[in-house]
Amino acid sequence: MKKIAVINGPNLNLLGVREKSIYGDTSFDSYFAGLKSRFENVELTYFQSNCEGSIIDEIHRVGFDVDGIVLNAGAYTHYSIAIADAIRAVKAPVVEVHISNVHSREEYRHVSMIAPACRGVIAGFGLKSYDLAVEALL
Ligand code: DQA
Repeated sequence: MKKIAVINGPNLNLLGVREKSIYGDTSFDSYFAGLKSRFENVELTYFQSNCEGSIIDEIHRVGFDVDGIVLNAGAYTHYSIAIADAIRAVKAPVVEVHISNVHSREEYRHVSMIAPACRGVIAGFGLKSYDLAVEALL
C-alpha cells in the first residue's frame, strides 16, 4: 500500500470558518474523511501545525518513510526558506498545494519559496487540489 502524508500549515485548522468566500465552508476533517474514502488503497495521514518548526519536524519525520507528501504550507509558502530546505533534505517527493489560485491574488502570494524544491504545484481548485495532488503522486 502506498503511503502519502498530507501536511497543512498555518491557519488551515480554520478551514470552513476562515474567509469562506476564498477557502469554502468545508472543514478539513470532513474533507479528509472523503479523501480517504476516494483513495481507499492509499495509506493517508494528516498533520497540521501553525508553527514553522513543527512543519519542518513533520517533513523530516515522514519524509524518509512515505511515498509522497502533499503540502499546503499556507503563508509560509511565500517566505520560508527553512521549509524549502526541509523539502530538499528528505527523500519523498512533495507536491505544493493551494486551495485558492494564489496567482490571481495579492502579489506577495505569487512568490513561492518552496515551489523550486517541490515535484509540482497545484493551486486554485479548492479542496479538490488535494485530490489532484494525491493522484499526481500515485
Ligand atoms: C493558501 C494560500 C496562501 O497564500 C495563504 O496564506 C493560505 C492558504 C491556499 O491554500 O490557498 O493560508 O495556501
